[in-house]
Amino acid sequence: MFTIETAATAAYVVAALLFILALAGLSRHETSRAGNSFGIAGMAVALLATIALALARHIEPLGLGLLVGAMVIGAAIGLWRAKVVEMTGMPELIALLHSFVGLAAVLVGWNGYLHVEGDATGAEAMQLGTEGMLGIHSAEVVIGVFIGAVTFTGSIVANLKLSARIKSAPMMLPGKNVLNVGALVVFAALTVWFVIDPQLWLLIVVTVLALLLGWHLVASIGGGDMPVVVSMLNSYSGWAAAASGFLLSNDLLIVTGALVGSSGAYLSYIMCKAMNRSFISVIAGGFGIEAGPADDKDYGTHREIDADSAADLLASAHSVIITPGYGMAVAQAQYGVADLTRKLRDRGVNVRFGIHPVAGRLPGHMNVLLAEAKVPYDIVLEMDEINDDFSDTDVVLVIGANDTVNPAASEDPSSPIAGMPVLTVWNANNVIVFKRSMASGYAGVQNPLFFRENTQMLFGDAKDRVDAINAALSESVSAGH
Ligand code: TAP
Repeated sequence: MFTIETAATAAYVVAALLFILALAGLSRHETSRAGNSFGIAGMAVALLATIALALARHIEPLGLGLLVGAMVIGAAIGLWRAKVVEMTGMPELIALLHSFVGLAAVLVGWNGYLHVEGDATGAEAMQLGTEGMLGIHSAEVVIGVFIGAVTFTGSIVANLKLSARIKSAPMMLPGKNVLNVGALVVFAALTVWFVIDPQLWLLIVVTVLALLLGWHLVASIGGGDMPVVVSMLNSYSGWAAAASGFLLSNDLLIVTGALVGSSGAYLSYIMCKAMNRSFISVIAGGFGIEAGPADDKDYGTHREIDADSAADLLASAHSVIITPGYGMAVAQAQYGVADLTRKLRDRGVNVRFGIHPVAGRLPGHMNVLLAEAKVPYDIVLEMDEINDDFSDTDVVLVIGANDTVNPAASEDPSSPIAGMPVLTVWNANNVIVFKRSMASGYAGVQNPLFFRENTQMLFGDAKDRVDAINAALSESVSAGH
């Protein structure tokens, strides 16, 4: 028989399928727009079905008002943030959004407690009690609140670190691993206690413990590992949503939460592999990572080059590899870089791009910028595809990249980024580094590349410098060189 309930269940299945298509689409940049559209369509179907269900269940006017009010305010804030956010500010915005999911899971958990365990003579508690399901409900409450609270404070710390409002260096409390493991053991014990005897003070203790643990876990992780942390928090936010789904008996929330949770976990795993980091170490709040010695090494002197000489060097090159990084995004130099690529290719130079998996501030950051500037996909290569080719390359242009081209990662076991795979740009005949100063990159470590014999620094804003090289190349064409 057709009822609003069965229609809503069918709509939830459709929405879940659309979310799976969205994830599949987002995994490749050629299909990412379609993936995004599937995601939007899925969310629209889910919202409509939820509202229809609420109406069919005769929601009170106050509830309806709250539902509509929350949607309007949420949509307005979402549209405004999406319009004003810079591409470079995306990771911190994403971290902030994860904190909302965490907070929502905490509130749903608390609401579940107040309606059931906290109101033992109420209808819901009585019904669950006669079905023998009260213990399961209590477990859902305490686990949902725990995951949500860890996600909430962890994401706030990630947001503060990514937006440079707090230091990105790892916080090193004495015995930090014991603190983390201890918190998990206490949580497990309190969960058992709460399931047997769901008292208010137990839930308060679990909430405070989880808030502190989330803060500590992320504060203990250094800047270089932040990309993994953001995707790990993405995963936690998925599990928090799934826990809320169980409490609210909402199948779509369970499915969507599980999709986000598992895809986030898988992305974290891939990123850990790409950066040669231990997955367990990162999810356990930097387990096993100790503070390195202060860097007071003498790296020698560096050489400088100007835009005209760089243009001459490029004009006489046969092969050029461009390795962009965060600075290209800050300077918005991608259009000039695309123009430079066209100019060099017109002269018969073999130009390719080498993209490090964590170049920039979010996965795929550089690919998006280069696609936006219409650089052909087939010359944009992943690190593994291009790393062996640097030794046959005349000129490498390092445009606003630093940590991702740092030889210390492969040569200095005491470096904080030791073991992280990097683009081996120093094997090329000439390396030109575009940056504004000798300042370090995101991980806060000095880069010995800048002091190598085959490296020259081109100081200034990356966009200005690329434009100056383009102007010099155009001039040399019109002068007939
Ligand atoms: P970074 O190591 O952050 O270096 C960027 C460099 O760009 C800086 O040294 C800076 O030097 C320069 N720069 C900034 N603005 C510039 C401008 N307007 N013009 C020219 N240069 C400019 O970048 P990377 O090599 O792309 O490495 C990424 C780092 O971020 C890694 O440590 C990674 O772990 C971390 N991270 C990545 C992600 C993801 S998922 N991709 C997320 C969070 C963090 P000056 O100040 O001297 O100009």
